[in-house]
Amino acid sequence: MRPHVRNVGDHRRNIDGAVPIHHTHAVVIEIEQFHESPRSFGRTVLPRWRVAYLRRTSILRPRRGRAIHTTVTRAQGRCATLPAPSARRGRHSRREEGTLMTNSTTADMTARWAWLREQTPALRNRIYMNCGFQGPMSQPVADAMHAWIDRELSLGPTTREVLEARRQLATRYRELAAQLVGADPDEIAITEHTTRGINVVTGGLSVEADDGVVTSGIEHASGMIPSYFLRERRGADMRIVPLSPEDSPGAMAERFAGVIDARTRLVLVSGVSYSTGQRLPIAELVSLAHRANPGARVLIDGAQTAGHEPIDVHASGVDAYAFPMHKWMCGPGGLGALYIRRDRIAEIDPAAVSGHAAAAWDFAGEFTPERESIQKFELTTVSGVLLAGGVAAIEQYLASGPEAVWERARALNRVAEQRLKRTGVTVISPSSEATRTGLFTFHTPSIPAAALAYHLQQTAGIVCRGVRELDAVRLSLNAYNTEDEIERVAEVVEGALRDGVTPEAQAVAQPAAGAVEP
Ligand SMILES: Cc1ncc(COP(=O)(O)O)c(C=O)c1O
Repeated sequence: MRPHVRNVGDHRRNIDGAVPIHHTHAVVIEIEQFHESPRSFGRTVLPRWRVAYLRRTSILRPRRGRAIHTTVTRAQGRCATLPAPSARRGRHSRREEGTLMTNSTTADMTARWAWLREQTPALRNRIYMNCGFQGPMSQPVADAMHAWIDRELSLGPTTREVLEARRQLATRYRELAAQLVGADPDEIAITEHTTRGINVVTGGLSVEADDGVVTSGIEHASGMIPSYFLRERRGADMRIVPLSPEDSPGAMAERFAGVIDARTRLVLVSGVSYSTGQRLPIAELVSLAHRANPGARVLIDGAQTAGHEPIDVHASGVDAYAFPMHKWMCGPGGLGALYIRRDRIAEIDPAAVSGHAAAAWDFAGEFTPERESIQKFELTTVSGVLLAGGVAAIEQYLASGPEAVWERARALNRVAEQRLKRTGVTVISPSSEATRTGLFTFHTPSIPAAALAYHLQQTAGIVCRGVRELDAVRLSLNAYNTEDEIERVAEVVEGALRDGVTPEAQAVAQPAAGAVEP
């Protein structure tokens, strides 16, 4: 099959196979689909995700003074030219001309973030620092969703090939979600969001009166309210461990150690707090809980971790981990996943049930519940559009590199800390490297956080949110954000501290009673 390569981005030109690139530009090739034979790339030889991880996004960098001439074959995808940082600085690439580069040198990553920015329309129009609420979608993710809609539009949603493609898409999503958190695909349930995953566990785990349920004082409502309901409905003894952003991982573990005991049935905490932005010592909490009571289960609210920090559920030993696609992953809203350790699946009852929760049944009264398969927690139709977006979002994140994203987010947090401190605000999020993340929160005594967040957006297009519980402004600093953007935030904050915020911003300082913040 002939290769089909489309040019995207600012440097549009028609190319077919050969890609001539001027020396001041690198080329990023985003491969959508391989046309290799199954023998070369089929699942038996090399799993598709591995091919995607290795080859999906590649950066070709030219030698100074020469142009790249290369040919993309056996693949369908797109190609965009980018300024090449190493060429700009006059350094030679140590790479062979035309080599597909898939490792992560600094220059590669700079190009990768530039590519992400170029591919994400909202980042061109706004200073977008709110992926802890919902991340901006890139064009490739949106394209994957559009392509799915087009397929259903032209063929109809239940035509055999469309149904089969959707089944394959669900399998692929499950595989990629598993890879994202270091699990196996048969330990992953497809959900709508983090909160659904949390509810699957809190609703299905047997928690008796006086069983201990331990959580922290920096949890999101999606962790707190299910815990309170375990107290309301089952009479659980709920304990809330107070945590401070200054706490070291050891200090946090010590606080939990004072509360976790042989009666503890469930520990429900965030991997990263949505409010203070601090990282919790998950592996330590797991070993504390399992040592205190082998029957204790640890459920992680991964709303602020997936797509932000590298996750390895097998290494940490957690029992369950719920996460979404729409926050740091920059995927579609309405899609998430739940990991449950293989040997814990049978002990959790599906609270909401469908045909997937039956191992066998008939109309004559015969019924055997499904126990072992994690799909017993899934209900019926899943949107192919969302699955297509979820698959593209995970592939995009894996191509960026989880370690590189994490390092970049934390580096931006350090820049924000140094710069924002000079404006006179009080920094809330941790300044210790052991607990620092990409979430940066700060407080100003003179301006309510909700008003300042509104003002930042209204006057400078800076999208972020206020955390009502701490009266703090929260910046979600993802890998695609820049030092210049942080500088702009600081300037606008300085202006607001000096001149005040707009009257409209003052008016939004008090949110409606009962409003639920994401
Ligand atoms: C820590 C935390 N948990 C849960 C949620 C809710 O996430 P979802 O919409 O995926 O259920 C949020 C949303 O911001 C969050 O920050």
